[in-house]
Amino acid sequence: MGKKISRSPLRFTRPLLPDLDKVMKRFRLSWDMGMVTKGKITEEYEKRAAAYLNLPYAASVSSCTSGLILALRALNLEGDCLVPSFTFTSTIQALLWNNLNPIFVDCHPSKFTVGREDLEASFTPRISAVVVPYVFGNPPPLLEIRQFCQKKKIPLIVDAAHAFGSSVYGKKPGGLGTVEVFSTSATKLLCTGEGGMITTRHSRLSELILLLREYGHNAQYETQNLGLNGRMTEFQAAVGIEGLALLEKHAQKRKSLAKLYQKHLSHLPLIFQDIEPDCESSYKDFAVVLQQKEWGITRDQAAAALARAGIPTRRYFFPPMHKQHFFLKKSGQSQTGRTGILLPHTEKISDQILCLPIYYDLREDDIHRVADEMTRVFKKSKSMLKGSL
Ligand SMILES: Cc1ncc(COP(=O)(O)O)c(C=O)c1O
Repeated sequence: MGKKISRSPLRFTRPLLPDLDKVMKRFRLSWDMGMVTKGKITEEYEKRAAAYLNLPYAASVSSCTSGLILALRALNLEGDCLVPSFTFTSTIQALLWNNLNPIFVDCHPSKFTVGREDLEASFTPRISAVVVPYVFGNPPPLLEIRQFCQKKKIPLIVDAAHAFGSSVYGKKPGGLGTVEVFSTSATKLLCTGEGGMITTRHSRLSELILLLREYGHNAQYETQNLGLNGRMTEFQAAVGIEGLALLEKHAQKRKSLAKLYQKHLSHLPLIFQDIEPDCESSYKDFAVVLQQKEWGITRDQAAAALARAGIPTRRYFFPPMHKQHFFLKKSGQSQTGRTGILLPHTEKISDQILCLPIYYDLREDDIHRVADEMTRVFKKSKSMLKGSL
């Protein structure tokens, strides 16, 4: 009898959750005291997160989206902001919630992040800030971008939604932007169900963010600014504390899975994401760009063939933000009368990208299975192409 081949259903993503008994042990005291929010566990989580990131302040929030809205609000900006189109909707929505116009810029063809040249090329005197995301855990060139922002005297907001588990120039993320905002939602390496974390090195900014997170009112219930209820609960914070203890091993595992993917897919015409030099990606996602001409089929056809074989994939980020009508009509680019925004790298990547399953429990034989199936899809499309010639 041959070796039994595993055919358990593959997931696209799956959080690494801490031991529930440990979480409950931590949570029970607060529960028994009736402290389900704004308590000691949240305080402890924020302290531990700041210590992990080696930063003076870390404010937990209900999500990265609410954190971005609050961070931009605290900076009190107006006008236009430079932002890549190759990102998630929240990056742009946070600008719109603050009445800021997105000016979409292109991204690097293999890093998928925005570079200093992309920002330089689109800078105008109306630009009041730069907002840059980590892409699938890959940091943008933050030292260069920070220098650019310092020269222009504008703040740098980092959408660090994918950054827990990454490293930047040998350090933990969170300390290079004027303000950085993480996500701890279910697809992230540090998962609290829903949630986020805001970091900054500036004490006054940090105090203002705490005020805004609390409806914008002070301890005397006097409203001082436009705020939100942006808090997370004590239970989520307990999950976060236990999750922090797992973060390093989770990040290491993802890196080894990404390496295995690269090894087993290297014979196919794919672009792998280049990671920023001296940095490490969390591999929140493992993405490949199909070289369309050589595959002879579209990304969506390849994804459908993989889905039929039980392999779930996702097309992050598609459609790109500058192609979405809702954003286009709000963009500073259309308001200044420029018709159509040409972002060739973003468009190519967005059309041809495919994110493959990656999570802590993914096994080497699962990666073989994905690689074998992708090879089969590629060969089949080639043979059909030959037949049609
Ligand atoms: C780049 C980016 N920014 C922001 C968010 C929003 O995060 P959250 O779901 O915590 O609001 C996401 C979500 O995955 C994201 O990918």
